[in-house]
Amino acid sequence: MIDLHCHVLPGLDDGAKDDASALAMCRMAAADGIRILVATPHYRSGVGVEDLSVVAPAAERLQRLVDAEGIGLEIRHACEMPLLEDFLACYRSGTWLAYDSSRKYVLWEIPTLPCNGPAILSRIVSQLVSAGATPVLAHPERLPFLDDLRAVEDVCARGALLQVTAEAVVGDSSAGRRARAWLDAGLVAAVATDSHSVHRRPPRLSPVRDFLRRRYGEAAATALVSGNPSKILAGEPPA
Ligand SMILES: [Fe+2]
Repeated sequence: MIDLHCHVLPGLDDGAKDDASALAMCRMAAADGIRILVATPHYRSGVGVEDLSVVAPAAERLQRLVDAEGIGLEIRHACEMPLLEDFLACYRSGTWLAYDSSRKYVLWEIPTLPCNGPAILSRIVSQLVSAGATPVLAHPERLPFLDDLRAVEDVCARGALLQVTAEAVVGDSSAGRRARAWLDAGLVAAVATDSHSVHRRPPRLSPVRDFLRRRYGEAAATALVSGNPSKILAGEPPA
């Protein structure tokens, strides 16, 4: 399995606080069957890094620690971008770290918008797509303004991908109900952990994979936790 969203780089944001915490997350992920963990530190969100040039060296350093511990896990990196006024400039300038080498697939955290949320989200998705990006929306199930399925369908039709959170999908919250409705409608591209520690959204995908198998069958479950994440890392459109 591949986890596309994890705050595992030690000391960079509100995720792993030190090497021991990061390695504990890596051990848990590997034991769960995750083979690739994509570190996605927050950027300029108040809790994240101000300079993304630190991310690649931090990921390479964690990979060395993981290898030294004999943990079978590959560490990749991208970043989680908040909704900034200069988001287009960040993308065009190459500041925004993408999942893929062609810099197309970018992880984007959308806040709860005060009013006209669906219209604003649709407009900014279109702006990014016009610039050549494919925005991967981080935990959109947390956004109450996306209760209307038609609004979500519109965002997807404009080119955004939905990445929902594993813990929400199997949980009993309004976010979980939204995520499952979108899964039922075939609108979700990937499920990820958004793990911050072994306690806060632990880096495990097997519980949600098993849930998805029961609800949608083996092929759909595999696509959501392995096949589609692999395609996104390769810069290819998911199934
Ligand atoms: Fe996150």
